[in-house]
Amino acid sequence: MKKHWWQDAVLYQVYLRSFKDSNGDGIGDIPGIISKLDYLKSLGVNTLWVSPHYDSPMDDNGYDVRDFYKVAKEYGTLEDFKALLKAAHDRNMYILIDLVLNHTSDEHAWFEAAKDPDHPDHKKYHDYYIWHPGKISEAGLKEKPTQWISWFGGSVWEYNAPTDEYYLHIFSKKMPDLNWRNSAMKNDLKAMIKWWIDLGIDGFRVDASNHLEKNWEFPDASPGYEHFSSLPKHHEYLQELAEELFIPHELLIIGEAGGASKEEALDYAGFDSKKFNLLIHFSHVWVDGDDSNRLTPGKWAKGTVQLKKIKEALKHWVEVFHEKGWNTLYWHNHDHPRIVSHYGNDTDTYREKSAKMLALMLYVLPGTPIIYQGEEIGMTNVDYQNLSDFRDVEVFTEYDNFIRNGATHEVAMQALRDRSRDNARSPMPWSDEAHGGFSEQEPWIPMVKNYPTINVKKNRAEKDSILSFYQDLLMIRKSEELAYQNPRFDEQESTALFAYQIHGKHHDIYVIGNFTNQPQVFHPDLDLKGYQIKLSNDANSGPQLTPYEARLYLKKR
Ligand code: NOJ
Repeated sequence: MKKHWWQDAVLYQVYLRSFKDSNGDGIGDIPGIISKLDYLKSLGVNTLWVSPHYDSPMDDNGYDVRDFYKVAKEYGTLEDFKALLKAAHDRNMYILIDLVLNHTSDEHAWFEAAKDPDHPDHKKYHDYYIWHPGKISEAGLKEKPTQWISWFGGSVWEYNAPTDEYYLHIFSKKMPDLNWRNSAMKNDLKAMIKWWIDLGIDGFRVDASNHLEKNWEFPDASPGYEHFSSLPKHHEYLQELAEELFIPHELLIIGEAGGASKEEALDYAGFDSKKFNLLIHFSHVWVDGDDSNRLTPGKWAKGTVQLKKIKEALKHWVEVFHEKGWNTLYWHNHDHPRIVSHYGNDTDTYREKSAKMLALMLYVLPGTPIIYQGEEIGMTNVDYQNLSDFRDVEVFTEYDNFIRNGATHEVAMQALRDRSRDNARSPMPWSDEAHGGFSEQEPWIPMVKNYPTINVKKNRAEKDSILSFYQDLLMIRKSEELAYQNPRFDEQESTALFAYQIHGKHHDIYVIGNFTNQPQVFHPDLDLKGYQIKLSNDANSGPQLTPYEARLYLKKR
């Protein structure tokens, strides 16, 4: 099997809007990324996944694309983008961009024509989107076609008076879904993809990839996710793109597809697959829910972290891809809470220690890591006190839902602070200066107030910082070729400990971590004689792990 460059890669997700502002408008931008490439390189990263940089009204921070061929004004120019590619390539780094294929903005020229019967191009573009005349109720009134619920809460249907029809949007109503059964639409998207390839990008992260096909019978159901998720035909669309564009240009393709079975995952990202190279699933992301919560239900209901489920999920993906494909390692992305607040402990006492433990437990596993911006300095969830501090389109629909369910304002606010996507989107604190050195202006979304103590500058100055732990860990990952090892998982029944062994050609490794705030005695399933602690987050080496302690033992052969 030919080895691909991305098997050894360390990826880093840049949430452009919140990474680094270079021109003082309070919004992160492309020159800002360029100015931090050396920082990323020194961390041990060589590939960036940059969140959408396209022209957009920013209803969903760029996932609502208005013009695929333009860079958003606030992010810079096409020249800046080319400069980013050059600056990255000069440093032997790679750039992946987000590819949004499920929908456009309602301000995209296609939709402008599609919704307006008087538009000269109406005929051509109407069927680029998904329309329905609606149902007639018993009382003879026009009704929404189905009760399907969008991923951001609320109906997936929006009425368009000029055509007297509803259009489908599985995200916000400003993001109408594209009709993948329309070949002219598909060809236009393919031309756009080719255009970015020709510009020199190294790959894509394919957004919402398993939603491209819909159930065109439109059966009624609520929420009805099964009618717009993972339908068989979306595989055909992805394969077509891969065969015509991704594979011939040897791109790295990361597909976002939640809920994939083992077979489907291999079909997406097995070595023989003709779709993606890496798969983003979510099976370890929300394993601390509380099904009994009726006020802030679903992903918003915070319960106890279920370590057993996290371990099962991580083990599952290692096993699925062993020798058959390539695994992806990440704690979270821009749609989830900050990992140290979510599965660690963000109190002053344990924040640093638990952030290091989480890193160690994940990044010794085989596969390609994707570090989310700010994870490497232990950024926490937001501390926003007012609803108006939040920015995410989803927050406002859901807040109303919570209040309607009977939640008090405070209960609703706590759910947002615990679970909303804005947690991952507060600006990156580069220093303790005003606005965290992110910008000279008030940022587009408030900084978390702890930035004077949690920032890059401080992490760089301190020998034992989370940042330096990440650097050491990534160095060990490289030198011991951890991407290629096959772990054996121990302690599967424990609700406190996570442990695994690796027996490679040149070394034996044992990793153990305590996910609780209590000391834990451990009984390794192997004899640790001759092993040394190569990396840990505590000076301790006794038979009992301190709260959130994690150790990597290594024995050279
Ligand atoms: C998944 C992206 O990660 C998320 O941020 C976005 O809102 C939806 N897809 C819609 O594009």
